[in-house]
Amino acid sequence: MFPENIAERTRRDFPLLNSISGQQGLIYLDHAATSQKPQSVIDSLEHYYKNINANVHRGAHQLSAKATDAFEGARQIVGNFIGANSFREIVFTRNATEGINLIARSWGDSNLKEGDEILLTVMEHHSNIVPWQLLSGRTGCLVKYVGLTPSGELDVDDFCEKLNEKTKLISLVHISNTLGCCNPISEITSKAHKYGALVLLDACQSLAHQPFDVGSIGVDFLVGSSHKICGPTGVGFLWGREHILEAMPPFLGGGEMIQDVFLDRFTSSDLPHKFEAGTPPIGEAIAMGTAIQYLELIGLENIRDWEHKLMEHLFEKLSQINDLRVLGPTPSNEKYRGALATFSVEDIHSNDLASLLDIAGICIRSGHHCCQPLHRHYGLTGTARASLSFTSTIEEIDLFIDELCSSISFLRKNS
Ligand SMILES: Cc1ncc(COP(=O)(O)O)c(C=O)c1O
Repeated sequence: MFPENIAERTRRDFPLLNSISGQQGLIYLDHAATSQKPQSVIDSLEHYYKNINANVHRGAHQLSAKATDAFEGARQIVGNFIGANSFREIVFTRNATEGINLIARSWGDSNLKEGDEILLTVMEHHSNIVPWQLLSGRTGCLVKYVGLTPSGELDVDDFCEKLNEKTKLISLVHISNTLGCCNPISEITSKAHKYGALVLLDACQSLAHQPFDVGSIGVDFLVGSSHKICGPTGVGFLWGREHILEAMPPFLGGGEMIQDVFLDRFTSSDLPHKFEAGTPPIGEAIAMGTAIQYLELIGLENIRDWEHKLMEHLFEKLSQINDLRVLGPTPSNEKYRGALATFSVEDIHSNDLASLLDIAGICIRSGHHCCQPLHRHYGLTGTARASLSFTSTIEEIDLFIDELCSSISFLRKNS
């Protein structure tokens, strides 16, 4: 069936996408860096600060009870969104990066020792590399990396070769923010579990783009960031299996995460508050819940199908440009691919392309996209990336391609 043009019905909900830049409306093709926010999310933040601003879990007054209800309601929304068994499995964090650091510090410090191994992949974002390098420095565990196939996908054979009895954790991205490939998580998980290893999924680039269910994918931990799913910055979440979270020591200490404090000791509060020290980002968590409700209203299947159509169009157009190389797999009907294209053009610096496109009111990303090891793997220092969302249109892609071609000709003439 022909996918519904969701952009037609959703674009007007996004104030920033309707602002004018130069001759035309702003063309925002940097959704993988951060998503734009619909009016309902902006209203939700404003509503919290105007009407129910109070600290949570601690006030005897009605205002605090209202804030607590809305905050805990957002936790339920997040839990339902990813198919969690219980709200106790959802820990609010500042972002996905903090979620990974939480696991490395809490689970890693208390479970890993010299000789143990952690498996990552070459395509990971720095936030899924550096916390494990730090853990390795503290515990002596070894960090190993799974390589890529020639088409820019996870090399499952290499994964199988590197997986062994010493592997304690596999931490990997669901959809790469640079290659766009969607990793075969169920397969990875079932193989990992045979060796008793846990799997942490970085779902930053998948949650806003396709239906998701943590139960069927089989992982043990998952992290996400609100700002990637149409919600505000400053909040994210960690999901973990309840019995694993239960056995983990607290990450940060302070208010909220305790039951009793004495001069020489403390007892921790129950899940999930055990991992939420200090005053949380209350309004932001509530607005993240609103963002999820907005995505669910559009329908994640609809989003996936529309973005797939956009991707096919983008790739078709990019393939017609000489000396342009796109990283990662080409879109196909058989295999889901993330809605982004990362590319390099021979003898042209990606910053020059991004600057010229910016003058034309088109936002793309340029640089290493927090994936320096991946860029080194390809012998590149930087690339350009155009990333889409359900609000993107075929017309925007065409304008982007026209401007990209003009920019390439201009830079070639002036080099
Ligand atoms: C795949 C991936 N993982 C992790 C992150 C880190 O997200 P945050 O900075 O919100 O913690 C990003 C952000 O770009 C990402 O794309």
